[in-house]
Amino acid sequence: MLKDRLTVTLPVIAQVDVARFEGNVIDAVCDCLVIAIGDAGVMSTAAKAIDQRFDRWLSDAIESDAIKTGFGDLTMMPALKSPANKSSASAAKSWLIVGTGKAKDLSRGKAFELGATMTRRLVDSRRERLVISADDVVPADLMDSLVAGSLSGCDGQAIHMSEPKLNAPAKIEFVGISDDAVFSGKLVGDSLNITRRLVNEPPNLLYPESFADAATVLAREVGLEIEVWDEKRLEAEGCRAILAVGRASHRPPRLVMLRHRGGDPATAPLAIVGKGVTFDSGGLSIKPSDGMADMKCDMAGAATVVGVMRAIAIMKLPINVIGLCGLAENMISGDAYRLGDVIETRSGVMIEILNTDAEGRVVLADTLDVAVQQQPSAIIDMATLTGACMVALGRDIAGLMTNDQSLCDEIEASAKVQGELVWPLPMFDLFGEQIKSKVADIKNVGDGRWGGAITAAKFLERFVHDIPWVHIDIAGPAFAESPKPHRDAGATGVMLRTLVNWLQTRSAR
Ligand code: BES
Ligand code: MN
Ligand code: ZN
Repeated sequence: MLKDRLTVTLPVIAQVDVARFEGNVIDAVCDCLVIAIGDAGVMSTAAKAIDQRFDRWLSDAIESDAIKTGFGDLTMMPALKSPANKSSASAAKSWLIVGTGKAKDLSRGKAFELGATMTRRLVDSRRERLVISADDVVPADLMDSLVAGSLSGCDGQAIHMSEPKLNAPAKIEFVGISDDAVFSGKLVGDSLNITRRLVNEPPNLLYPESFADAATVLAREVGLEIEVWDEKRLEAEGCRAILAVGRASHRPPRLVMLRHRGGDPATAPLAIVGKGVTFDSGGLSIKPSDGMADMKCDMAGAATVVGVMRAIAIMKLPINVIGLCGLAENMISGDAYRLGDVIETRSGVMIEILNTDAEGRVVLADTLDVAVQQQPSAIIDMATLTGACMVALGRDIAGLMTNDQSLCDEIEASAKVQGELVWPLPMFDLFGEQIKSKVADIKNVGDGRWGGAITAAKFLERFVHDIPWVHIDIAGPAFAESPKPHRDAGATGVMLRTLVNWLQTRSAR
């Protein structure tokens, strides 16, 4: 097979150093000083210092509405120089004045957005050193989220430009921040960017094997145990469903198992599972070009598993967690799996294939079974599983489906804390009726397309047995069509912060 000319060492993310700013902020020698101002003129240290030095210049500008302080309002300008003595003015090259709105409206989610909005405005040209003063405006307990967001704003989908378009700074310093906030904000922000990078990489470069290689590099860096099952091992393990989906591709499937041993060895682990279809052509039930164009994003669930596992390893959470990625490329060839095929899954459940584009649930059938074999106390899976979930909830909301309401409540609570949008869909038995097959135990599509997100979840439910489980359908929010002030289009890393919060909560209880 002809190799692609371009090879990348995965995953490459911008290395942005984060630190606490020490010293007098007005003397900060930097490319940009970011100055946060809340509604009603609530000022950060930098804002106060500038207002003092320049004779209420900022207060007047806010009062006259020349500078707006609503959430996310940006005013970029050269740093003012004092006419009398130029050297006594702010040592920054430029100022970015950022409105943060009403303090009572700030949350972890909003702080994340704010951080990302700040840096996204600044990566359009080369700026090596940024100093951000959001102290006294953003509450101390939201600062780590601001840091994570600021790193997220430095990265995007323009990763293969011959002329770089994204200029991440070398260093960001935050005024009045704790070491803890620097540490956890940085590790979450970096992990998020790694997840996004894996998703944004094109499918000619990122395929099951190269995904597994990237995961191996990452695991070694942070001390996670990793096992990679190649096609021979998958065969030996009876993962016929994963192999069927991947069979038509020149890029053979893989299963990645990551393990974090932070807790008592005697306690059951938690399992997080991700759909890792590195490209989804639809197979013989081929997608039209429009629907296929973004299907490199179909491994977002698996990429999120890798990012979450990295984050909790660095945090050294005192719990046991396994992360599983089911990796395959859904292609077409003379050996492609067909409509009408019956596959004996690893668990023994016989599935009839009636649509090769409903491949995610087929891959997850075996991946979930591998999880079940580890006897976890709970399983969370993430998957870009159905267009139907997008029809139901739109592009920004992840669907939650479960066999255990209290576990689902935990995920919902964590999502709320982090400001990620999720919504439950009902798992009534009648949806299960729809996947009964005439020739096998179940079929991989419902009758018609109604309730398609739920019939897909009902299929998955067969493979988790009685283990408490939540399925998160991220087809909508995993990959954005258009940019926003706080993030580029493309991969979003959705649910990483929710799952990290959930695992933190679990390890604290
Ligand atoms: N990967 C797709 C779902 C998807 C669609 C993710 C759009 C992100 C954006 C999945 O494999 C798929 O093709 N699902 C089918 C299922 C159908 C054939 C039952 C769908 O949703 O159309
Ligand atoms: Mn598909
Ligand atoms: Zn798919």
